[in-house]
Amino acid sequence: MKQKLQEIKVAAEKVLKEAEDMEVLESIRVRFLGKKGELTSVLKGMGALSPEQRPVIGALANEIRTFLEKEIEEKKADISAKLQEIRLRSEIIDVTMPGKKREIGKLHPLTQVMDEIKDIFIGMGFEIAEGPEVEYDYYNFEALNIPKNHPARDTQDTFYIEDNIVLRTQTSPIQVRVMEKQRPPIRIIAPGKVYRSDAVDATHSPVFHQIEGLVVDKGVTMADLKGTLEAFIKSLYGEEAKVRFRPHHFPFTEPSAEVDVSCFICGGEGCRVCKGEGWIEILGCGMVHPKVLSNCGIDPEEYSGFAFGLGLERVAMRRYDIDDLRLFFENDLRFLRQF
Ligand code: DAH
Repeated sequence: MKQKLQEIKVAAEKVLKEAEDMEVLESIRVRFLGKKGELTSVLKGMGALSPEQRPVIGALANEIRTFLEKEIEEKKADISAKLQEIRLRSEIIDVTMPGKKREIGKLHPLTQVMDEIKDIFIGMGFEIAEGPEVEYDYYNFEALNIPKNHPARDTQDTFYIEDNIVLRTQTSPIQVRVMEKQRPPIRIIAPGKVYRSDAVDATHSPVFHQIEGLVVDKGVTMADLKGTLEAFIKSLYGEEAKVRFRPHHFPFTEPSAEVDVSCFICGGEGCRVCKGEGWIEILGCGMVHPKVLSNCGIDPEEYSGFAFGLGLERVAMRRYDIDDLRLFFENDLRFLRQF
């Protein structure tokens, strides 16, 4: 039995020396020291020994057990140190390496101005409405009191998808879409892209942006229109901005006006930006035409409203003193980075 114990010790030492990971180590522990392990089963056979031999073999067996336990613990520490070493090495960070620079983009100047305008109107209790860019002739023209052959169609020639489907030339059709679906009180702005078959030059583009506004309720008057637009313009251009309403004609409003703001470069003296006028035109507006209201099933005897439409590019150009519209659409970073 003594020999058997020595053999176990030698065998255990051999496999321990070769063990390189925790699983192997654990299987060695089970194999020798486990409940059904080799050393344990030797000890179980001690009953057959003579009383003199029993303490001798018992002591030896315990000695070997303690020895193996210690060996296994040491090996464990060994392996975990090695694993740690490997992990540390794989996680080494070279703090002297140059970092990866992430380019942070920014909002396009048109988006910035658009957001600013939206914020001003949201602050006044307006909601944002949307409509399709591919629009029926009916919504883009007809319902807005611009029948076929109306001269107002000449200035808004556009791209036809079919005879009665166009790329919208203005955001005004959204007025009709909102009034068809929603009963007054209505207070919306509708920003979006519009299209016209204009040749590209410094002040024209076949695609540009407008922001439409519409308020319909009982007892809405021209005074509400003037007050709202004046508040808007002063928010956008500053308290010192002066506002001028000039009579104009739009088929879908009556009366109609164009709105000028005092030139914010020269303050009204006359300069290059305002072309010596002292005023800069920024939007069209008017009281919603009774025909447009009734086209949308709203009784013009009961309700009235005002509407307005402004061109985003124009506002942005004047805001940043940009003299060529094309710059907005050419995606030249040298231009875009300035805002
Ligand atoms: N839709 C007009 C245009 O594109 C602008 C406009 C004028 C909109 C008067 C309106 C308005 O809502 O009342 O020229």
